[in-house]
Amino acid sequence: MADPAPHRRAAPVRAHSPGRVNLIGDHTDYNEGVALPMAVDLGTTVTFTPDEGTRLVLRSSQDPEPADVDIHMSLDSRVLEAVEPRWARYVAAVASAVRPASGGSGTVVTTLPIGAGLSSSAALEVALALVFGHDADPVSLARTCQRAEHAATGVPTGIMDQLVVSAAQENCALLIDFADLSMQTVEVPAGAEVVVVHSGESRALAHSAYAQRRAECEAAAHRLGPLGRVDPAVAVAIPDPVLRRRARHVVTECERVHWFTAALRAGDLAEAGRVMAASHHSLAHDFEVSTPGLDSLVERLMGFPGVFGARLTGAGFGGCVVALTEPTALDLDLLGTPAWRVRASRGAHLVAVA
Ligand code: GLA
Repeated sequence: MADPAPHRRAAPVRAHSPGRVNLIGDHTDYNEGVALPMAVDLGTTVTFTPDEGTRLVLRSSQDPEPADVDIHMSLDSRVLEAVEPRWARYVAAVASAVRPASGGSGTVVTTLPIGAGLSSSAALEVALALVFGHDADPVSLARTCQRAEHAATGVPTGIMDQLVVSAAQENCALLIDFADLSMQTVEVPAGAEVVVVHSGESRALAHSAYAQRRAECEAAAHRLGPLGRVDPAVAVAIPDPVLRRRARHVVTECERVHWFTAALRAGDLAEAGRVMAASHHSLAHDFEVSTPGLDSLVERLMGFPGVFGARLTGAGFGGCVVALTEPTALDLDLLGTPAWRVRASRGAHLVAVA
């Protein structure tokens, strides 16, 4: 007998994606450099029940307004710009990039702070892509979601966030070489704790300033080739002082990623902390993506006993600081700002629906 329901519903599917914190290597991904991010035990879970319609209706724990978009929307940022509420742009963008077989309805639940620099948007994109039927090959999943991110936000971000939340493994950070997207796991030593602390500053300037930094790197790369692969001695010879500083950051940051990785592997947390402090200094002075609030938070955290090092993490211009500490060195309740002890977690995956 024919089903009288207008949209027959199939079995629900569920996917979970972690957020990420970058231990070291910022503004290196779009320069074919290296970075060492890790996925964290805060993340986003999407549950989706396909039906036979063409609309996607999702409710979020973070916004009273649902996303209600057509599966046939175009992956064009000028079209997506008109979609409201804002978070629905990610739903529309991922749907356009993945092309789910049908519409459906579902829920989005997250434990990630939104817009704090822990890749809440990459987590949402990757979890959506999985429930919409994308296969789980981490590199192609990350590329698809990076395209969706560009369309949803108009910001020319690199692939680090989507790649680490797709490919990470339990207890490990991921050393990524963005020249060929090869990855190596790096265990986080048992004696180390990773703490993320919010500066309290929202990343207001992040969009326009990120695009500007990327353009500056491209201008420098036009003379020298991809900055992540340039010899340090060559980078310091650029005549333009701004481009020289930008290039110097990228080149030295890539060296620091390797030093930091070696220190972690050797269990030398004091050295790892010194390298983090140098990374923050370079991001602040050469790349100019720090703020007075981030600088003073880093300085304050470095003053606590048991803190090996701290640096801004992610794009900068506000958002979070990451600290490497002895276990329980920081009393998070006394910091006066949101903070999280995070554990290195596995990447995005489908979850059985009970
Ligand atoms: C944001 C972007 C990443 C990366 C970082 C800076 O998180 O999404 O691609 O460029 O900034 O390292």
